[in-house]
This record gives sequence, C-alpha cells and structure tokens, in this order.
Amino acid sequence: QERLPAGYVVRPLARTDNQVRSNTSFLKTLEVLTTIGTISDEDFQKRFQYLKQRNDEYFTIVIEDMNVPATTPRSATSSSPSLVTPGRGKIVAAGTVLVERKFIRQLGLVGHIEDIAVSADQQGKKLGLRIIETLKAIGQQQGCYKVILDCSEKNVPFYEKCGFERRGVEMGWYV
Ligand code: ACO
Repeated sequence: QERLPAGYVVRPLARTDNQVRSNTSFLKTLEVLTTIGTISDEDFQKRFQYLKQRNDEYFTIVIEDMNVPATTPRSATSSSPSLVTPGRGKIVAAGTVLVERKFIRQLGLVGHIEDIAVSADQQGKKLGLRIIETLKAIGQQQGCYKVILDCSEKNVPFYEKCGFERRGVEMGWYV
C-alpha cells in the first residue's frame, strides 16, 4: 500500500468536519466535484446524524493534513502531534462507499463508491488512490461481492490504476 505523506491521516467523517470558521471544512473539499449549495451547520448535522444512524450502510472517509493547524486551534496546550483529533488540520480528500442490500445473489451486498474528491492543490499525491483502496477494503469487510462506481471518461485511467475495469454503461435521468 502507498504511504500517505507525513502528517496525513485517513479517518471517518466526523460531526465537527463542517467547521466553516476553520480550514477543515469537508464541504469545501467536495467543491472539485460540483456545486455544493448553501448548507447551514444545522442541515449538515441533520444529514450527518442520518448517516451515523446507518453506519453499516454509509461509510464516508476523509484524508486530513495534520501539518496544517486549523485557523481556530482549540487549545495550545492539549495538542499532541501523535494524537489524531478530528478538525485539527485540513481536510484534503474525501469519498463514500454505500452498501446496498440486495435480494439477488443470496441477499448479496454491493458497494457503491460515490463522491471521490481530492482538493485541486493536492491532486497527484496518491490521495485519491488511498481513498479508493480504503473504500474497497471497507466494502470487502462488509461482505460486498462487488464494488462499483460511475465516472467520466477522463477518470477511467485513474480508476484502472485503482483496480477497476470497464463494465456496462452508466445511464442517467435528470429531473
Ligand atoms: N488520467 C490518467 N491517470 C490519472 C488520472 C487521469 N485523469 N488521474 C490520476 N491518474 C493516475 C495517477 O497518475 C496515478 O498513477 P501512478 O500510480 O502511475 O502514478 C494514479 O492514477 C493515482 O492517482 P492519484 O494521485 O491517487 O490521483 P488523485 O489523488 O489526483 O485523485 C481524482 C484522482 C480523485 C480523480 C482527483 O483528481 C479529483 O478529485 N478530481 C476531481 C473530482 C473528480 O473527478 N472525482 C471523481 C469523480 S467519479 C466518482 O466520484 C465515483
């Protein structure tokens, strides 16, 4: 497995990752994907709680660069570099695997990878690869018989490097 750059950690999304006053914001990281809209902290907390109640179904992970202190450090005395405190650094990458429960294949489970995002200034450091490796491992641990995703043509080489192969065609219906 590729080593992460020094001071970078992979961890689950945390309740505090919407701290817009600091530079840790998870939502900001997603801006490389599409428009995010205006999401209040209350809205974020509601969605976070929804996902947390389904923690065998939704797995959202982030990579945090702990070398970058948050703009509003909690306490100068309590900080220990070896302790991973969510929100101390800056979120630089994110991704989700959603575990679908099927009837076919003897009540089979399928992992769906969604919303893979690496901040523009952090791309090319194998962070995307690490996010995908971690989500694949989660899918496997959960018992999925396959993990699938939809992507644009330009991302095909990236996903091939991550061990995926072309299967079928993605179709969409936009309301
Ligand atoms: N074309 C060819 N090769 C690529 C590309 C590309 N577009 N992107 C990455 N690679 C290769 C890298 O060169 C590297 O190869 P190597 O191991 O031989 O050196 C390997 O793939 C791994 O690359 P990473 O450094 O891990 O890629 P990165 O961290 O930049 O993440 C990602 C890739 C997620 C596509 C990132 O560029 C990104 O966030 N882009 C914008 C948002 C986006 O398109 N997200 C994916 C949407 S699809 C979905 O969410 C299911």
